[in-house]
Amino acid sequence: MGELENIQNLRENFKKQNKSCFILGASGATGKELLKEILKQQLFSNVTIIGRRKLTFEEVAYQNVNQQVVDFEKLDEYSAAFQGHDVGFCCLGTTKAKGGAGEAEVKIEELNFERCTIFKPALILCDREESRPLEWCARKILGCLSHVMSITALSVPISTLARAMVNNAVIPSDKKVELLENKDIHMIGNQDETKTS
Ligand SMILES: NC(=O)c1ccc[n+]([C@@H]2O[C@H](COP(=O)([O-])OP(=O)(O)OC[C@H]3O[C@@H](n4cnc5c(N)ncnc54)[C@H](OP(=O)(O)O)[C@@H]3O)[C@@H](O)[C@H]2O)c1
Repeated sequence: MGELENIQNLRENFKKQNKSCFILGASGATGKELLKEILKQQLFSNVTIIGRRKLTFEEVAYQNVNQQVVDFEKLDEYSAAFQGHDVGFCCLGTTKAKGGAGEAEVKIEELNFERCTIFKPALILCDREESRPLEWCARKILGCLSHVMSITALSVPISTLARAMVNNAVIPSDKKVELLENKDIHMIGNQDETKTS
């Protein structure tokens, strides 16, 4: 993966293309971090968040973010909200039980996108506002352990995940569908730290 080392150049080239993106699930933990990273890097000339409720942002960096509120039960009626974007990020929340293990991947592949990357993180390390007791305990334990030993197989910091999603978007690929596991997410998300040229 030689081109990964040139992430800064890839970002600069990407910026020049004035691409637009939408984010689904920007009110969730992953989506929020992803939006923050996208705005920080200023990679896209146009950023739209699509959700089931309007969000409020205080920071100046968010002032040009477009918002579309849609009814996810009647998506056919809201196709216009998705049109005109070059890249789409989906951070919608579901559980394996609700989503059906592997089912979502198959359905996404059937949509025949020009390019599609599926991220499969292990436990996401973040400060979650809502209470999910088991996730909270695992996060606390792994968060502490990560300071003294490498546990990259079991978890990923949310900032690394968000950066991996953004980095991946600027890295060209000839793969139509790609599945990135936790170790890949660590590698791509930490490109800035590992760059050698
Ligand atoms: N957390 C982890 O450790 C972990 C690990 C591996 C994989 N994942 C997967 O990664 C994905 C994102 O996780 P997360 O922790 O960032 O999720 P999250 O914080 O729960 O955020 C979920 C997002 O999806 C939206 N959403 C949920 N149900 C919806 C519905 N029926 N219609 C429209 N929008 C809906 C929420 O919108 P509202 O704000 O309007 O509710 C929110 O924006 C999930 O699919 C999860 O299974 C998570």
